[in-house]
Amino acid sequence: MKKIGFTETVLRDANQSQIATRMPFSKFEGILSEMDKAGYYSLECWGGATFDSCLRYLDEDPWERLRKIRKAVPNTKLQMLLRGQNLLGYRPYPDDVVQKFVEYSIKNGIDILRIFDALNDPNNLRVAIEATKKYGGHASGAICFTISPIHTLENYVKLAKELESMGCDSICIKDMSGIMGPGEAYDLVKAIKENVKLPVIVHTHSTTGLGPMTYLKAIEGGADVIDTAISCLSGGTSQPATESMVYAVRQLGYEVDVKDDSLKKINDHFLPVQKEAIESGLLDPYVLGTKTDALIYQVPGGMLSNLIAQLKAQNASDKLDQVLEEIPTVKRELGYPPLVTPMSQMTGVQAVMNVLAGERYKVVSNEIRSYVRGEYGRAPGELDAGLVKKILGSEPRMTGRFADTLAPAFEEAKKKLGSRAKSDEDVLMYIAFPPLAEKLFDRREGKAAPAAPAPAVKKVAYSVRRAD
Ligand code: CO
Repeated sequence: MKKIGFTETVLRDANQSQIATRMPFSKFEGILSEMDKAGYYSLECWGGATFDSCLRYLDEDPWERLRKIRKAVPNTKLQMLLRGQNLLGYRPYPDDVVQKFVEYSIKNGIDILRIFDALNDPNNLRVAIEATKKYGGHASGAICFTISPIHTLENYVKLAKELESMGCDSICIKDMSGIMGPGEAYDLVKAIKENVKLPVIVHTHSTTGLGPMTYLKAIEGGADVIDTAISCLSGGTSQPATESMVYAVRQLGYEVDVKDDSLKKINDHFLPVQKEAIESGLLDPYVLGTKTDALIYQVPGGMLSNLIAQLKAQNASDKLDQVLEEIPTVKRELGYPPLVTPMSQMTGVQAVMNVLAGERYKVVSNEIRSYVRGEYGRAPGELDAGLVKKILGSEPRMTGRFADTLAPAFEEAKKKLGSRAKSDEDVLMYIAFPPLAEKLFDRREGKAAPAAPAPAVKKVAYSVRRAD
């Protein structure tokens, strides 16, 4: 019988989606060796917002965290999420930085790099995929799932084939908002499996309640691996529960390597972490519920709560309906970008400004301006001509690849840092998050006191959650 693999997300996506990526290493250190024995396909433990959060809130060197995980988990594949040319940040980096970042991610312990681009633009994936192959990693090419008139089965298959020809070892269908239904999952996985000879991995969230159904139909369609989170940090904005999915998949006759007794121990370990996060206000039980709004508005759960918070801050909570009506129009005018970091934030902010300013695109964020210029890559569809004219005037749009216009940055940053950088990893950390890295260097050199523990702000999970 066919074997189904499980990727455990508790250290990265569940951590990010439910508790704003605030879990320090010390809270999971003690369970890593059991996780290594559990029989997972992989352990998603790095990338996404973890790097930023380690520096910003946890006073941890993210590279050091990775090395410590690797040491404690010698046998299971370690996986990270990489935002393509944007690495772990929100803007494109020069190619030499992308290459070095991939090189050092692998050298410090990563086996599988799941690489995505918010626009599904292969030009933003190529350099990271090639570097992954060069340094001996497994390149998992991700396709961001969204619903629009141009995101057809045919176009998704075309992208999957392109990822295969670029050297990817697997294809991941990434449904960051939990809006992919079981029917869509079945059709999409089946079509990709028929056209591409690579394992297919499916990633979704439980936000809308479709997750477990979507996974079962994806498996029926031929999926090889699914992403799940240990039960006490599963559900809602996180992934479906590992234990329940293992139970269901096994009952349907598939082979599963994951060991039930390990899962019990792992869940027992994280239960107090969950309890503490609820008590401190870091985990708001609101994120655990089923939110079907995303099915109507096709807006990720995290984005919806950001919008609510943003409107509230401007005393405009009554404008929510207008903003929700505005989003699909903005999305169409921007050429149907999938609503994933950073496009989810950018589209949401612009929709709010369009409503609050009383005139559409009277106020335009710098990010949207750059996007329209072409700096984020090729939009999936055509941009609205009137919008382009209004924003850019006679300024020409970029036709090539934005990263080609960026000068190499690694050697220069290394020179600038001098003896402050103890390693190339330090240099990369500095390029990615300059002020945060400098603070870490200050603390390391005894020039600053250790960072205060992250404040347990009620509902913090809303405002800082990134949808990926
Ligand atoms: Co996700």
